[in-house]
Amino acid sequence: MSELFRTKSLSKLLADAASGEGGLKKTLGTWSLVALGIGAIIGAGLFVRTAAAAADNAGSAVTMSFVVAAVGCAFAGLCYAEFAAMIPIAGSAYTYAYTTMGEVVAWIIGWSLIMEYALGAATVSIAWSEYLNNLLGGKIPYEWCHSPFEHTYKVIGDAISQFPEEIAKTAKSGILILSDDQFAGLSEGLKSQVTTFSGMVNLPALGILLVLSLLLIKGTKESAFVNGIIVFVKLAIVLIFIAIGWKFINPENHTPYLIPEGTKGHEGFFTWGYGGILGGAAVVFFAFIGFDAVSTAAQEAKNPKRDMPIGILGSLVVCTILYVLFSYVLTGVAHWSEFGAAGKEASVSYAIQKYMIGYEWLGTSVTIAILAGFSSVILVMLMGQSRVFYSMSKDGLLPSVFSHLHPKFQTPYKSNMILFVFVGIFAGFIPGSVAGDLTSFGTLFAFVIVCLGILIMRKKNPEIPRPFKTPLVPLVPILGMLVCSFMIIALDLFTLASAGVWMIFGLIIYFVYSQKRSTLNIK
Ligand code: ALA
Repeated sequence: MSELFRTKSLSKLLADAASGEGGLKKTLGTWSLVALGIGAIIGAGLFVRTAAAAADNAGSAVTMSFVVAAVGCAFAGLCYAEFAAMIPIAGSAYTYAYTTMGEVVAWIIGWSLIMEYALGAATVSIAWSEYLNNLLGGKIPYEWCHSPFEHTYKVIGDAISQFPEEIAKTAKSGILILSDDQFAGLSEGLKSQVTTFSGMVNLPALGILLVLSLLLIKGTKESAFVNGIIVFVKLAIVLIFIAIGWKFINPENHTPYLIPEGTKGHEGFFTWGYGGILGGAAVVFFAFIGFDAVSTAAQEAKNPKRDMPIGILGSLVVCTILYVLFSYVLTGVAHWSEFGAAGKEASVSYAIQKYMIGYEWLGTSVTIAILAGFSSVILVMLMGQSRVFYSMSKDGLLPSVFSHLHPKFQTPYKSNMILFVFVGIFAGFIPGSVAGDLTSFGTLFAFVIVCLGILIMRKKNPEIPRPFKTPLVPLVPILGMLVCSFMIIALDLFTLASAGVWMIFGLIIYFVYSQKRSTLNIK
């Protein structure tokens, strides 16, 4: 029993970190770390989920949903900052748990971080593939950009006129796409006019994963450089959209600010009024995932004591401000109710094309920026995952192949390659919706443990120097645990059940493999 809760000695950990011998290269400065955070944060959450949260839950008060989600993240972020500055080791939440709560808790956290980083990378690469196809005008054959679990119904050309007016009018460029329900409701005669396309493998998603994995193998500095360029492009586009869109805000779209009671289709507690703000917060939480990934790069930071808190909290603050402004403009340019029907994924281009007359060119730029933005999210997620594996492998809980460094590039290249295959299986063959909410679960769970870890560490090791101190302890960690636990409960049952199965699978591996091989067995 005691083996389960044995902890890693903090003094040994700090000595390992200080020696840095034969380990990861220290190449990241302040700006690179903030950019790494922004690179991981701004992505599908902002560009896809803002409109979804507005249409389904919060209306134009989606701005408040962003504030609520940001407050939850800020509590956790302050706790991450204390740990990352104090223990600058690659494993992030996994390492913090190992020193405070013991091996089995650390293992559980490491295992749930796989949901955050690996599944997060898979989810965003699937969204990347969708946007690429949009940019190319839908030219990628359906079977090569969808998983085998997906299918679509299409009617092409003149046959469209035989369909009910309601359905036929949604056709674009001579192609009518039907939902499952629409197809089921058709007469046998009309069904015979419909062609069914089934997915095989999502090749663009695999392609972007491969390119980014190769970049990570080449070097952390090179990856951070490319990330910096991408972050510049996506920040520029977000700012341009806010600045130009501001002029097109129609104040009527913001009144009433909350979705009124009795609005059709908004009967549930989390779908109107103040409850809708909370429901929206759970949806847009995804948009904040990633600031914690900065802490996985702690071992590669030149001056982690100072730069870790700046990287984690700085990127969170910048993104929160941008998110509130962006969502204010988006729901001001188009009414939130339009996003339900007008393609949530393409909501930004929709608002530009329909209302921002004279700025249609911005629509294409936004799509390109979104593609770039998604790439950096995937990059940092893949990087974060390989660094967590690196630490777990150094501790003996995972095979040593995960911590082999490339002789020249000094990156965990074998881990990057294995990760490509693992993430690729999800990205290529599983629908994006399945992976998305599991990503939120893994992240929230890690947040709860990190907040708890701060409380334990303050009691257990009050004497350790803390270059950054979480303010108002125990209030901030307790609030962080409460808010994040609440968001976990708000996830749907399927997600919770899937996460449960994943955890059981992880514990079996721990007992069969890792516990016996832990380096803590060597006295
Ligand atoms: N925060 C990241 C995104 O929104 C995961 O894509």
